[in-house]
Amino acid sequence: MLTKLQAKVFFLGGTAVFFGIFLVLSIDTHLKVPDQTNAKNLTPAVIAGKHIWEQNNCMGCHTLFGEGAYYAPELTKVVERRGKDWIKIFIKNPAAMFPGQRKMVKYDFNDEQIDQVIAFLEWCGNVDLNGFPADPPLRDALQAMGTPTPTIASSGPAPLKKPVPAIFTTASCIGCHQIQGQGGAAGALIGAPPLDDVFRRYDREKLITWVKDPQKIKPGTKMPSLYGVAVNEAQLNEIADYLMSLNPAAAAPTAPAAVPTPAPAPAVQPK
Ligand code: HEC
Ligand code: HEC
Repeated sequence: MLTKLQAKVFFLGGTAVFFGIFLVLSIDTHLKVPDQTNAKNLTPAVIAGKHIWEQNNCMGCHTLFGEGAYYAPELTKVVERRGKDWIKIFIKNPAAMFPGQRKMVKYDFNDEQIDQVIAFLEWCGNVDLNGFPADPPLRDALQAMGTPTPTIASSGPAPLKKPVPAIFTTASCIGCHQIQGQGGAAGALIGAPPLDDVFRRYDREKLITWVKDPQKIKPGTKMPSLYGVAVNEAQLNEIADYLMSLNPAAAAPTAPAAVPTPAPAPAVQPK
């Protein structure tokens, strides 16, 4: 049994020790807050984006940091998940990205406002939330599914390696489709095939129609209608030219160049 004095000392000592621990941990937490909240990256664009977020009640449908309404997707990591180009197109015309599904409101934001919203969402994505939202457990497996093996599945020589034109990024094709070993993550779930050997399946005309009016080729398809939203007429042709040029046969006329040809006489006099 403790004497009265021992009990008093035990109580006061214990209280002091744990209050000390509490103080140290509190101070430590407060020191870490600026780092965790990513406060140094609060640029004017991020702040403007936050105002747009509030004024338009995005939270009435979405959650951010897990807070808000559960009608529409969690947006904390949306920039990482979808990429800025995809979000830009999506906000301009949400129905284009998800033909025939539930729709997000079409806001008439200008480009600057859209960039600000994206800056805000990107800032949110960089806040240290101790691992929230958790990676879906199946993500790696799904990405592996989305990784194509076109050279095994198809016959003929492997597609050529050619740098991918910018339009595939700005129109976010590469977010959904894998091309030349890049991208494809966002399309893995909805069955977007790699485009490296698409020349084997369609001629130029049909490729153009796929991008111009996917529903015409395959009613109900999940391929978004990006024509007029992210792709114009000239870019449509650029896309088709590029995809057709991946056909090694299309490059055949230049192939014999590999056979020794008389090399042009080297410049004798360097400048
Ligand atoms: C009326 C409800 C509603 C409001 C308000 C709303 N959204 Fe959405 N949003 C949706 C729905 C539904 C989707 C899912 C689209 C789909 O799957 O077809 C979505 C999807 C998104 C996506 C893509 C998410 C993903 O993972 O694919 C972004 C980004 C987004 N919204 C941003 C915003 C922003 C920014 C605002 C405010 C300016 C906003 N939303 C307001 C309903 C809403
Ligand atoms: C939101 C994801 C998404 C984006 C962005 C997207 N696609 Fe698709 N695309 C798909 C899906 C899914 C299919 C498969 C459609 C089907 O079979 O129903 C598809 C099919 C295609 C096909 C036919 C492929 C085949 O082998 O049948 C072509 C060509 C194509 N897309 C080109 C493009 C181009 C070019 C862009 C950019 C301008 C683009 N896609 C952007 C999802 C996407």
